[in-house]
Amino acid sequence: MQPVINDQISTLKESATLFINQRAIKLRSEGQNICHLGFGESPFPVPEPMQIALRENAHRKQYISGYGLPELRKAVAGLFNNKFGYNYSFENIFIGPGSKELIFQLVYLLEGPLMVPAPSWVSYGPQAKIRSKTFITIPTDRKNCYRLQAEELEKTCTRQKSPQKLLILNNPNNPTGSVHSPDELQDLAEVCRKHGVIVISDEIYALTNFGDQPFSGIANFFAEGTITTSGISKAYSAGGWRLGFAMIPNELAEIVPPLSAFVSETFSCVSAPVQYGALPGFENYESVRNHVERCRDIHAAAGHFLHQRFTEIGLNCPKPQGAFYLFPDFENFSDILNSRGINTSEELSKRLLEDTGVALLPGSDFYMPDDFLGVRVASVDYDGAQVLRDFPAKDQLTPEVYTSLFPILAEACERIEEWLR
Ligand SMILES: Cc1ncc(COP(=O)(O)O)c(C=O)c1O
Repeated sequence: MQPVINDQISTLKESATLFINQRAIKLRSEGQNICHLGFGESPFPVPEPMQIALRENAHRKQYISGYGLPELRKAVAGLFNNKFGYNYSFENIFIGPGSKELIFQLVYLLEGPLMVPAPSWVSYGPQAKIRSKTFITIPTDRKNCYRLQAEELEKTCTRQKSPQKLLILNNPNNPTGSVHSPDELQDLAEVCRKHGVIVISDEIYALTNFGDQPFSGIANFFAEGTITTSGISKAYSAGGWRLGFAMIPNELAEIVPPLSAFVSETFSCVSAPVQYGALPGFENYESVRNHVERCRDIHAAAGHFLHQRFTEIGLNCPKPQGAFYLFPDFENFSDILNSRGINTSEELSKRLLEDTGVALLPGSDFYMPDDFLGVRVASVDYDGAQVLRDFPAKDQLTPEVYTSLFPILAEACERIEEWLR
C-alpha cells in the first residue's frame, strides 16, 4: 500500500544540524579524522545535583499537570526574575519537552506571519512551513554582528498587512554568538508595540551569556507582548532530558487555555522524573552556579580562541558574546573559491568536509542567500568533562593552553588555513 503523506511534512528535509551530526559521526566511525564543528551540543556533564535528583525520582510514574510541576514553575520564574529582572509569576510558566516543541506549539497556535532575522536558527522556518504560515526573513548586516536593528524590523513590518505578526528573536544567538544590547532591545520593542508584533524571545542560551554587559531580554522592554522561552539543554548541558519552558505574560493570558488544550492532546506532560531532576538547577541555583559559570567561561574561551584564529586566517567573523557558535564568512577568499567551482555556502561546507574533514553548516541553512560564502561553526568539539577539570584561571590562557584544551578546534583552523593557501 502506498501511504499518502501530508505535503507540508513530506517535503521537509531532516533538520540540517541533526543531519550533519549523523554524517560526521558516521565518517568518524569509519575511521576518518573529522573535526566536528557542525553540531551544537553542550559537551559538559549535567550538574551533579540534577543528576542526583533525577536518580532519586526515577520512581515517579504519574502524569503531571500539562503546565508542569508547580515547584518547578515557581523556581523557573524565581531564577529568571532574579537573574534578568523579569516579572513572571508561577502561573506564567509552561513546562514542555524542550523549548523547540513549545516554540512550535506557539507558532502553530498564533495567527499571523512569522518574521525572523537572517541568519536565524534552522528550525524556525520548517516549523512555520508545517503550519503553512508565511515565513519572512529580515536581512541583517554583518557590521552590526547580524543583530536585528529597529529600522530593519520597521521596514518589514510596514510591508505586512496582517494586524498580528510574530517575531522570533534569539538572544544570545545561534548561529552568530551575538547578544543584543539593552538599547537595541528597547528600540525593537517600540517597533513591536507599534506594529502589533508578538515576540517569541528564544533565550535558550541566556545563561551562557559571556559578553561585556549583563544579559537583558526583550521582555525587559516589551513585557506585555513577549513570550520568553528557555530550558535546560544548553547551560545545564541536558539537551537529551528534553525539558524547556515558555513564560507567557499576563497580558497574553488568552494563549494559555488553548496552549494547555494543545498540550493535553499532544505530549500530555514532560516526564515526571525529568521535571524533578531539573528542579535543583532552578530552586537551588547556588548548588549549580559554579558548574554553570565554569561551563560558560569555557564557551567564552573556545569562542574567543576560534574568533582569533579565524581573524588571523582572514575570515570575517563577529566576536561571539554568548552561546557556542561563530558565523565566519569566506568572502575575502571568494576569487579562490569561485576558481575551485565553489559558489555557494552549501558547496563550501561540502568541500570543506570532503577535502579537510572539517564539518560545518552552510549559511544557507540559516536563511542566508545561497551565494553568501558563510558557515556556522559550533565550538564544542572537545572533551567537556576533562576541560571542566583542567580549565585554568583566565590569566593563564596562553595560545598553547588553548591548543591543549581544544585540540580539535585548533586542528580545524590549521586545516582550513592550509586549504585556503
Ligand atoms: C536557537 C535555539 N533555540 C532552541 C533550541 C532548542 O532547545 P531545546 O533543547 O530546549 O528544545 C536550540 C537547540 O539547539 C537552539 O539552538
